[in-house]
Amino acid sequence: MEILQLQDVSYTYTGKTNVIEHVSLSFEQGKIYAIVGKSGAGKTTLLSMMSLLTKPSSGKILYDAKDITDMDPYHYRSQYVGVIFQNYNLLMHLTALENVVLSMEIAGKKENRKMIARELLEKVGLDEEEMNRRILKLSGGQQQRVAIARCLSYEPKVILADEPTGNLDMETQAEILEIFKSLAKEGHCIIMVTHSKEVAACADEIYELKRMKKSTKKI
Ligand SMILES: Nc1ncnc2c1ncn2[C@@H]1O[C@H](COP(=O)(O)OP(=O)(O)O)[C@@H](O)[C@H]1O
Ligand SMILES: [Mg+2]
Repeated sequence: MEILQLQDVSYTYTGKTNVIEHVSLSFEQGKIYAIVGKSGAGKTTLLSMMSLLTKPSSGKILYDAKDITDMDPYHYRSQYVGVIFQNYNLLMHLTALENVVLSMEIAGKKENRKMIARELLEKVGLDEEEMNRRILKLSGGQQQRVAIARCLSYEPKVILADEPTGNLDMETQAEILEIFKSLAKEGHCIIMVTHSKEVAACADEIYELKRMKKSTKKI
């Protein structure tokens, strides 16, 4: 079933021509999507709208058939979508466990925070010693695992990832993609922006964003 839908969405940065023009896309639960396109094609802009960091200039974004543009962006991002970045965006001086627990506190989750955080970190492949290590002492791949665990802690149905493996070697990239595959099997909808053919190849659907024509096609 469709969890996220973009209906005729356009976006213009102030004083610029349209970056995104009349884009309509839909995303289902249980699937992995790759959004590909050249640098400057508007991929990050598209994710920013889907995560409500910014609102479309026109058109609608529906989550579970409800228009998200009327929703409080903080509430939306702490309940509905998880966001993962190329540079992980973790708090470097806190431990992996503290990062996940803190996010749960901010999201207003009260019950068994530490226990759930441990389970999630274990699920993405960190052992007890690594969980208690500060982020700055973890490898890039381990940091991205923590970022995934952090976003799972809100229990979002949709996970948005901007070049999630852009800073990782091929082997670590493959491990992160395996995590995404198992999350999709559990019913999550994973939407990743990527430059990489290998990453796009693991998606169920690929949408290409074109800079010049500013249209999308399904390939
Ligand atoms: N804050 C901004 N203000 C003005 N223009 C921007 C801003 N952010 C991005 N752009 C422009 O919008 C276009 C799309 O950018 P972006 O979504 O980051 O593309 P991609 O992620 O595909 O590389 C680019 O031409 C970029 O220069
Ligand atoms: Mg980008």
